[in-house]
Amino acid sequence: MILVTGGLGYIGSHTVVELLEEGFEVLVVDDLSNSSLDVLKGIERACGKRPLFECLSLSNRISVKTLFHKYLDIQGIIHFAASKAVGESVSKPLAYYDNNLTSLLFFLQEMEVHNLSIPLIFSSSCTVYGEPDTLPITEQAPIKKATSPYGNTKQIGEEIIWDTLKSNEKLSAIILRYFNPIGAHDSLEIGELPIGIPQNLVPFITQTAVGLRDKLIVFGDDYPTRDGTCIRDYIHVVDLAKAHLIALQRLMAHKNEDRYEVFNLGTGKGNSVLEVIKCFERVSGMKLNYGIGPRREGDVVAAYADVSKANELLKWNAILSLDDAMASAWEWEQKIRTNN
Ligand code: WQD
Repeated sequence: MILVTGGLGYIGSHTVVELLEEGFEVLVVDDLSNSSLDVLKGIERACGKRPLFECLSLSNRISVKTLFHKYLDIQGIIHFAASKAVGESVSKPLAYYDNNLTSLLFFLQEMEVHNLSIPLIFSSSCTVYGEPDTLPITEQAPIKKATSPYGNTKQIGEEIIWDTLKSNEKLSAIILRYFNPIGAHDSLEIGELPIGIPQNLVPFITQTAVGLRDKLIVFGDDYPTRDGTCIRDYIHVVDLAKAHLIALQRLMAHKNEDRYEVFNLGTGKGNSVLEVIKCFERVSGMKLNYGIGPRREGDVVAAYADVSKANELLKWNAILSLDDAMASAWEWEQKIRTNN
């Protein structure tokens, strides 16, 4: 059985579908702080299978102890559970350090208590690189001082896992550093469900187009880029989910070259904010209402991945295009608005 923490979240739910379709038994643990049980039904509708589910917070030590006593056949862990809003983390740093780090500490401790030598996949982020010195960004790029408590929890999380592996030869881990996940499963039964006003670009675009938001503000068009707006590596969430399955199978089959491996997961291509808007208008046939506003604090100018390591070692690459991702995001947005 594979334990997926935060498995009802955006990337978690898409990964659970890939695991179930591959034939794995899956146990989802989620505290529903940023999701709902509807996602569990969506997973079942998307793939015809249902994971086991436990509603609990991993930052509660007793809950984690109880979980590991109840489920003795955990053969791997994919750890998504974390708070992930960059802006919110600046205003609530202690909540982010508590939720994101104690959850990791508690289940790593339980793995030691139970003497588990099972593979761990850790959900990390390209934010660990900060403002990159060179592009595209390789896994050897220097880790810069985090620009937010959220990004710092990802850096510290990687260090905690690294130090734990050094002291426990039974453990192996793969760190997956995501670039910008977007889009929805082609079943349109699961997708992105931002709570409140979306922080991220693509859900704000689709919510503007569907009439939930009046206007998209582009945060700055005076950057040193081809059109003045920031560049990012937008990867379809299904491509991202498939990489988790491959990484888990790599560790389960002991094909990893080191006990601690890091992979960038992106498309390897960068697109500007204006290019994403134009792509949306092309795939939707709609004119988006947007304007230019001031820069957003903490934004890096450009970040896109060098994905050659994942291509070569995982035999994985992103196959879905920006058009595919934007079209699925738009179809998903329309579906959830008509169902509400
Ligand atoms: C993308 C671009 C904005 C909203 C996020 C997470 C980060 C990581 C990667 C998980 C930027 C611009 C946005 C808007 C805009 N994910 N924008 N108007 O900041 O690259 O990083 O994904 O680990 O943690 O924060 O993504 O979608 O917020 O912004 O102009 O209303 O869109 O300035 O250039 P970001 P984003």
